[in-house]
Amino acid sequence: MAGYDDTPVEILDEAAAAEELTRLAALITRLNQAYHADDAPEVPDAEFDALRRRNEAIETRFPHLMRVDSPTLRVGAAPDGAFGKHRHLVPMLSLDNVFDEAEFEAFVTKAARFLGLDEARTAALAFVGEPKIDGLSISLTYEKGRFVRGTTRGDGTEGEDVTANLKTLRDLPLRLRGAAPDLIEIRGEVFLAKSDFLAINAAQAEAGQKEFANPRNAAAGSLRQLDPKITAKRPLSLFAYAAGFASAPVAASHWAYLEQLKEWGFTVNPLSARLAGKEEAEPFFERTARERATLAYDIDGVVYKIDDLSLQERLGFAGRAPRWAVAWKFPAEQAVTRLLDIEIQVGRTGALTPVARLEAVNVGGVLVTNATLHNADEIARKDVRIGDLVQLQRAGDVIPQILGVVPEPDRARGEPFVMPDHCPVCGATAERPPGEVVLRCTGGLTCPAQVVERLIHFVSRGAFDIDGLGDRSVREFHDAGLIAAPGDIFRLPAHEAEIAKREGWGATSARNLVKAIEARRTIPLPRFIYALGIRRIGESNAKLLARHYGSFTRWREQMLAAAVIGSEARQELGEITGVGATIAEEIVAFFAEPHNRATLDDLAIQLTIEDEVQETGGLLAGKTIVFTGSLLTMTRPEARATAERLGAKVTDSVSKRTGLVVLGADAGSKAKKAAELGVETVDEAGWRTLAGLPPA
Ligand code: IVH
Repeated sequence: MAGYDDTPVEILDEAAAAEELTRLAALITRLNQAYHADDAPEVPDAEFDALRRRNEAIETRFPHLMRVDSPTLRVGAAPDGAFGKHRHLVPMLSLDNVFDEAEFEAFVTKAARFLGLDEARTAALAFVGEPKIDGLSISLTYEKGRFVRGTTRGDGTEGEDVTANLKTLRDLPLRLRGAAPDLIEIRGEVFLAKSDFLAINAAQAEAGQKEFANPRNAAAGSLRQLDPKITAKRPLSLFAYAAGFASAPVAASHWAYLEQLKEWGFTVNPLSARLAGKEEAEPFFERTARERATLAYDIDGVVYKIDDLSLQERLGFAGRAPRWAVAWKFPAEQAVTRLLDIEIQVGRTGALTPVARLEAVNVGGVLVTNATLHNADEIARKDVRIGDLVQLQRAGDVIPQILGVVPEPDRARGEPFVMPDHCPVCGATAERPPGEVVLRCTGGLTCPAQVVERLIHFVSRGAFDIDGLGDRSVREFHDAGLIAAPGDIFRLPAHEAEIAKREGWGATSARNLVKAIEARRTIPLPRFIYALGIRRIGESNAKLLARHYGSFTRWREQMLAAAVIGSEARQELGEITGVGATIAEEIVAFFAEPHNRATLDDLAIQLTIEDEVQETGGLLAGKTIVFTGSLLTMTRPEARATAERLGAKVTDSVSKRTGLVVLGADAGSKAKKAAELGVETVDEAGWRTLAGLPPA
């Protein structure tokens, strides 16, 4: 081919190499442009790859000759020490898993019930099946057809800006071909081929560096390189598979959307298939499972998506997963190994959890050395004893589990395991509250394990998410007397010099830590509430509370008032959908502890806790709605989800705080109560109008 000579790289002299790199830079840039932007690849992929490889080979031989416009780099500005954070326009959620046909059927039934579909229409539901790539998901933003930003999933709301690194991916179009909405987020999976993973590990080993556990970790590690030059050398691939935000509609079906993605220049997994009905799901699963071993990359199941995008929109999300898609996972990987010991871990709420220490074993590409044994009942049920040979399994990201004991008739076994009656860390009595399976340390905040676990939770991902403050550093600072309570974390910057002098730290790490802490002095209310580690308040309940109370001040004041049983504040707390009485009790108990109130006060003076802005854009922003009676044009769950999407709060009982009662057919006592309290009511047709839905 014209434009470069094919003198073997080994015999090029320096001058010839420099000349060749100049030519290759221009040529590869032009071919790239032709491939990505002009819809007209000038050479076959293999030839293009050969050119890139030649360019790289020359650079490897003469590293000092690497040009600033080297195609190996193909990057923008390098990030300065850490990745910036970026908020996704539409959150990036995860998928619920199913493991067999019955569970898949249940998923379909649930979706159909939500939509109120009869049997015939359920049978006619079309799906798209796609291999579930075991990589890491990313979001790509295009403005007027140009790639402007790429982010990792992060916590689903906010990810890390890895734009510069993503630009090194050949599968990523820098410009979309043809017309596209002005602003669009495209979702996909970045992954490494299995063979490239092996090659990278070989190189890591040779360089005396840590090897990656599996292709996914290697892909993540490669994408999160601070130096894009390193990313550029890792052959990452990308499959696009979904839409995030779009400023204008793109397609009516997911299948058509995938077609559009291809037209824009993305690679869509060629094994994706349109399935005319749910009975095609199982054969597609079997087919994909058979092909799994022959694929160049790892997959861990099949993702099924309801094809009709208007149905997807109606179905929306429940918690962190869509109601319109599900992952049907391949069976868990299993292995047999020896149980070396059972240790007791003390959690942040004092729960004592037995953890199995195992002889290291490879389970589906991951080295496993410990597994959870859940609780005493589980150990007894499975009769697991130290020294036994055990069967364990690992499915996806979850903590490995012990399934049971592998009998060894000729071996003498140890004694049955007995849970301690004292906390192994602080020595306080361990109690098992009536009706619970979990044994708890009663030491509270006098137990160092609980203190440390709470601190670890406080800085964890969904909470304050402080970079550089992982489990190990939290323990270290706690043991050194630098932090005892959450508020102390924000006093760590005053100890920067001291931290810099600690073993393994140094001035730069200490500086970065201080920066990371300072960056978190402002925190959204839901994260703040979640960070407190109140029992049963996970991320979604924290969000519910934040949405309901709006500001830290109001939340705090109301939670204190809710201590009085029968008070209006207590009633209001219980009415928040999803909260209920047990959770309300936990929150009230938390506020009843003086040291918890002291922690809150300490944090409040050091931090800016951002109000949870009500979704003012929503048609029903800030309204509290009660549905009663039977609705004819949509199911109750859909009505509730629609109202919430439009910014309303939905509660179950009518009170003077209720803003609107929607009366379905045969509405009874709630209609009466609304009339008594003078609360506004509408019928179903009126509700549809308010919600901006077409008349039925
Ligand atoms: S769709 C809201 N499609 O699986 C639905 N996800 O367990 C968004 N994944 O975070 C995901 N292949 O990283 C979708 N064909 C595919 C996928 C896929 C792999 C990953 C993705 C997601 C995770 C959820």
